[in-house]
Amino acid sequence: QIKTRLFSVSPQFLLLAAISIPCLPRLPVLGSLPWLGGGLPPHLLFSQLAHRYGSLFALHLGPHYTVVVNDHRHAKEVLLQRGRDFAGRPNMVTTDLLTRGGKDIAFADYSPLWKLHRRLVHNSFTLFGEGTSRLQDIVLSSVDSLCAELLSGGRLGFDPSPAVTRAVTNVVCTLVFSATYRHGDAELQEVIRYNDGIVQTIARGGLVDIYPWMRFFPNKSLRKLKDSITVRDRLLTRKLEEHKASLTDGDPRDLLDALLKGQTGKSPGSEDEGITDDHVLMTAAEAFGAGVETTSTTLLWILAYLLHHPEVQDRVQKELDENIGSERAVCMSDRGRLPYLDCVINEGMRIRPVSPVLIPHTAMTHSSIGGHSVSPGTRVLVNMWSIHHDPQHWDKPDLFNPDRFLDNQGQRVTPSCFLPFGAGPRVCVGESLARLELFLFLSSLLQRMSFRLPDGAPPPNLQGRLGVVLQPLPFKVVVTPRAGWEGGAK
Ligand code: HEM
Repeated sequence: QIKTRLFSVSPQFLLLAAISIPCLPRLPVLGSLPWLGGGLPPHLLFSQLAHRYGSLFALHLGPHYTVVVNDHRHAKEVLLQRGRDFAGRPNMVTTDLLTRGGKDIAFADYSPLWKLHRRLVHNSFTLFGEGTSRLQDIVLSSVDSLCAELLSGGRLGFDPSPAVTRAVTNVVCTLVFSATYRHGDAELQEVIRYNDGIVQTIARGGLVDIYPWMRFFPNKSLRKLKDSITVRDRLLTRKLEEHKASLTDGDPRDLLDALLKGQTGKSPGSEDEGITDDHVLMTAAEAFGAGVETTSTTLLWILAYLLHHPEVQDRVQKELDENIGSERAVCMSDRGRLPYLDCVINEGMRIRPVSPVLIPHTAMTHSSIGGHSVSPGTRVLVNMWSIHHDPQHWDKPDLFNPDRFLDNQGQRVTPSCFLPFGAGPRVCVGESLARLELFLFLSSLLQRMSFRLPDGAPPPNLQGRLGVVLQPLPFKVVVTPRAGWEGGAK
């Protein structure tokens, strides 16, 4: 019986494994680059190519053979079922510069040291997040200043983006090194400026990340990246030294303390040096790099969609009025009472994933996707945009409809093809922090104020622009306080 089963399955499997993944044409040196023109951002280009080549296809980014995954079934294989096989990261010139050769979490290749480092960061976040109210207190104090700032914006209409970015940056500054800044503080402006410089230049599919030898030629973008990194390192090194000098045996005051306390020495017989000061510094830096732009942009996308759908804003406010009222601020334990708000957040992350293509993964071993064999070193790009817009899984995917996250009984559901934070060994480390921030910021804003378009202004452009994240184009809002919240805070 076993023999028959082997014979009925194996030849098919072997045949599929031998058939290569449909691949774009290629030229020597250039690879498939000549077929990737047309000016579309990668997530839209890949979705378009998937119509021609199928949802799983391959291309050559210069010399690098790269598989593009556009559907949920193959994404789950890469991220979850064979997550270990595909948990590597490619070397890139810009990310190597940014992370001192992969001493961070996001761009470091899979290794025992990386696992240890990731666990330490995860535990440190947990220390300030779930289980304690410290993170909530940090976010709520930032919420108060954001509300006051937005409400002072006047009724003429203004761009909410700088205030939102400042508020989220402030949360990360407090979390990482216990600094809280007032509006206009020079050090906060410095953090925002260098972060912006990095965001504009890092891992943007530039040629230098495909052909590393190009770094030896004059390159304006690489210069800007290096300058921003210098400013970042100067500031963070100062914070690190201050923390080392004042570290006590008591509870960690912030993430830097938690990381310093979790540093391990070189383990006997091991090649690596354990978690070094460089690792601590790169982790602190990454909390800004990975945690500010993603969270603030998600908030801005949701605001943009609320301006298009005032009926959704009304419904969230009704839910807030009925379940919380206006006498007190919203807190994390209210989350279960605000299911519709949760759906609005999810729908925002579905329709405009800020990372429409995940950070590149690489195969660390011989493996397979969809039965096709994949060799070690293959780069894999997961196109979350096409997964979140797949008409086979989402009814009218281009429509903003938070109700799709509720079932017939009004209970919350999370479809398995909704993966805004990725999944598996490389899932976002900041997911619970991000969810906490999104919930507290949005619930507080909508409890305390209403957003509308300035008279005669067109609604925000929803196409977006791809930088390191997919951002909405700048738009203006008019903000009016709701009853009882005229000053922005109690
Ligand atoms: C709305 C906010 C956020 C979204 C949508 C988001 C989404 C993502 C996604 C899609 C990935 C890539 C997963 C992959 O490569 O397969 C990722 C990775 C990561 N995120 Fe986030 N993120 C958010 C906020 C944050 C925050 C607040 C932090 C930390 C302060 C953070 C830290 C990281 C790190 C360190 C990684 C790399 C994980 C690894 O490679 O092992 N993220 N995030």
